[in-house]
Amino acid sequence: MQTTVTLERIEQDAYVREVLPHSFEVWNDGRTFDRYVDDFRTVASSTYAKRRPFTMGLLENGKLVTSCKNYDRELRWESSSLRATGIGAVFTPPLLRGRGYATAFLGAHLDAERDAGRDLAFLYSDIHPAYYARLGFIALPSRVVTIRAESLDGRAIGARAVEDADWAGIRRCFDALDRQRPWSLRRTPLVWNWMRARWNAPAREGTQAVHLVVRRARSVVAYAIGRRVLRSDMFVIDDFAFDGDEGRALVPALLRMAAGDLRRVGGWLPPPLARETLPRGSVRPRTEAVLMVAPLSGLGRSWWAQTHDATLAARSDATWSADHV
Ligand SMILES: CC(C)(COP(=O)(O)OP(=O)(O)OC[C@H]1O[C@@H](n2cnc3c(N)ncnc32)[C@H](O)[C@@H]1OP(=O)(O)O)[C@@H](O)C(=O)NCCC(=O)NCCS
Repeated sequence: MQTTVTLERIEQDAYVREVLPHSFEVWNDGRTFDRYVDDFRTVASSTYAKRRPFTMGLLENGKLVTSCKNYDRELRWESSSLRATGIGAVFTPPLLRGRGYATAFLGAHLDAERDAGRDLAFLYSDIHPAYYARLGFIALPSRVVTIRAESLDGRAIGARAVEDADWAGIRRCFDALDRQRPWSLRRTPLVWNWMRARWNAPAREGTQAVHLVVRRARSVVAYAIGRRVLRSDMFVIDDFAFDGDEGRALVPALLRMAAGDLRRVGGWLPPPLARETLPRGSVRPRTEAVLMVAPLSGLGRSWWAQTHDATLAARSDATWSADHV
């Protein structure tokens, strides 16, 4: 029989039925299956994910053999904008592995993204990066940091829980810091909505979401978003930013307040400028979620040629854990 192989969009219900029962074993992260499905549907139904096919797969004779998720992002490089595609959850069911399906799928997918005018692709590898390196992806420094909470400033700084009305100020605060970096993944309003939907999802068992903000007059001068993870005795940072010298000086106390009675503060090593507000701590390479990029267009290649030395040598990571796809 002749074999027909096609690259196709996978509808939400088909993905829930055909992929999630298998991928649950790898990515459940302590959740029940129902919660795993709910979390997927929250993102897949958001305006952000609906802008383009969110779940894609390779079909062989009509049967789904491998799949991934696609995240639409922009990369700001100084004042230029590059179109980026974030690839997540690359998955082949166990019985079909080792036959070249994921390699063929990713090759075809990158070609299609290049043809559609995308400048680069990125992903966070949970497996050995050599696999994606063979497809043209380059690994960027990806580390975790752990800091003793008591090494942070213990002053009271007037921080309080984030309220809905704070988000516009939080965005301005983020932008004020972010635009000082040579390049970053841009946070459009849709991207913020996607991040907020994830942060506002009910907390996993044994974790408490902590979203703190410090305002001065009408401005947000600093904020921190993360989770208190009781079994790790740690406040895990997803995101923080500050505006100006006053905000910068408040960050350690803000993180200490977020940690409460937990002994540690940590998470992905924050990007430049944010990282410098923290004590040195203990820094280790990540074995999971290793950031990898693949330039696809001429502009993508220029960006990488001109930024790779500084990015690879940096003492901080390039993206926030909030950017994880
Ligand atoms: C990784 C994965 C998508 C590969 O799918 P696949 O269709 O079997 O891929 P291919 O047949 O194209 O390539 C197989 C090769 O993948 C590589 N590979 C598989 N798992 C790997 C791992 N943990 N680390 C590094 N390489 C790995 C091996 O080189 C393997 O070759 P081998 O069979 O000769 O050992 C599949 O193993 C999977 O779904 N794993 C669980 C989910 C996951 O971790 N996905 C990656 C998210 S970043």
